[in-house]
Amino acid sequence: MKRYAAVLIFLSIYFIITSSCNELKRKSDAKHESFIRGTYHAWWVILGVDTSSAFHMLHALENMVDVKLMKKTLTGFPPNQHPVLFEIGKEFNCGPSVSSALRSDFLEFKFEIPFVSSFKSKTSVLNYKQRLFESSSLNSISSNIMYGLDASKANMNMSDSSYEIKLNQDTFKANFSTTDNQPWIRVRDFSFFKPYETIMNMTWFGRRKYGVCAEHNYDFDTALVKPSRAHLMFNKSMINPYFPTRTMT
Ligand SMILES: *[C@@H]1O[C@H](CO)[C@@H](O)[C@H](O)[C@H]1NC(C)=O
Ligand SMILES: *[C@@H]1O[C@H](CO)[C@@H](O)[C@H](O)[C@H]1NC(C)=O
Ligand SMILES: *[C@@H]1O[C@H](CO)[C@@H](O)[C@H](O)[C@H]1NC(C)=O
Ligand SMILES: *[C@@H]1O[C@H](CO)[C@@H](O)[C@H](O)[C@H]1NC(C)=O
Repeated sequence: MKRYAAVLIFLSIYFIITSSCNELKRKSDAKHESFIRGTYHAWWVILGVDTSSAFHMLHALENMVDVKLMKKTLTGFPPNQHPVLFEIGKEFNCGPSVSSALRSDFLEFKFEIPFVSSFKSKTSVLNYKQRLFESSSLNSISSNIMYGLDASKANMNMSDSSYEIKLNQDTFKANFSTTDNQPWIRVRDFSFFKPYETIMNMTWFGRRKYGVCAEHNYDFDTALVKPSRAHLMFNKSMINPYFPTRTMT
């Protein structure tokens, strides 16, 4: 299971926003230029939670009767566990591609339950972006309105080896380490990256009532990664009240 634990990644992304899951289409590369773009520096952490916890977590925040957990298809992942993914990072020069004046740097955290399906969506495998924190109130507002995401503005800090989020009395803290002298590796040269790419390639959705989906296009061909160890500590209420107390890494 160690190989699923965490990677530190540096990559560029394009955002595509659409008004409903059913209308979601892949746009050509040329069209991306008129959408939202940025460079992303993040730790991506995949954890396995037992399947019954994953079921309760899926339905924790709102009525999700039409959303189901799917069988995950990650080679080597324990059969009685469901993956969840933390994106713990920062967006650089991120915003509409038409004007650099509208772009900015901000911290962005996402907690996701991948491998879910919705009867309302024609796309079969979705990634439920359940909880987001952003350091910029403008971006947290647009995440709510444009993507229908549950994004909160929070106090956030990121260093080379740590990340901290504070919202009211609750905190999320993470610290990370890489092996000494671990160089950056191209994603294509890092065989353990596949589960991350599989999950990040999925179409995603946020709050059910908005019925809004989105998709990020990651430039994995130029992305650089470093395998990393992660230690996460958080108040469950910050992420999900059904998060199991102990998880496998
Ligand atoms: C972020 O760092 C500043 C300065 O070190 C500190 O005052 C603040 O409390 C930190 N905030 C969080 C959420 O860690
Ligand atoms: C994170 O901090 C905790 C507590 O200080 C420590 O036990 C752990 O080894 C650290 N982990 C990493 C990956 O740095
Ligand atoms: C992710 O999507 C890209 C672009 O469609 C594709 O080339 C790549 O093979 C996909 N990777 C995985 C692991 O599904
Ligand atoms: C969050 O966790 C910290 C300890 O990690 C605890 O002191 C604090 O009371 C918790 N807050 C809530 C709201 O549970």
